[in-house]
Amino acid sequence: MSTDAIVLLKEDHKEMRRLFKAFQDAEEGPASQRQKLVDQILEALTVHTYLENEVMYPEVRRLLPDLEDDILESYEEHHVADVLCAELAAMDAGDERFNAKTTVLIENVTHHVEEEEQEWFPKVRDALGRKQLQEIGEKMIALRADAPRTPTAPKAIKKALDAVTA
Ligand SMILES: [Fe+2]
Ligand SMILES: [Fe+2]
Repeated sequence: MSTDAIVLLKEDHKEMRRLFKAFQDAEEGPASQRQKLVDQILEALTVHTYLENEVMYPEVRRLLPDLEDDILESYEEHHVADVLCAELAAMDAGDERFNAKTTVLIENVTHHVEEEEQEWFPKVRDALGRKQLQEIGEKMIALRADAPRTPTAPKAIKKALDAVTA
């Protein structure tokens, strides 16, 4: 298994895309199925955002100051996603706004993930050595077990706030 930070984050992105597609396919389906998929989406996003906020973003910012603007924009995009995730966590699939809010979350995160994968991850790959990317990846693997799993977990809320006030 690779410990390369970018490989690990892209694996998470792939899983998110799979869940997004599953939700889109189930959009007209039973509430229980939509609820289950959104619960999985919220968990995947909460863990992933936490690892990026705690490890990847600060490391890239420290090592590659030229990418600071990309990192700052990414923190803001995480913040928007965090707000939508917290609102969705407080709703249930029977709510008339449930599908609409999930769709906006999916659109926002899809845009954000494309920017990471196409705009600044390649610059990080070019600038950092394989060993540095593996060290960052190993830190994310170590932290994963302690990551919050729901948007309303205290750690998730604290990180969401720290990301915009740091
Ligand atoms: Fe991100
Ligand atoms: Fe990401």
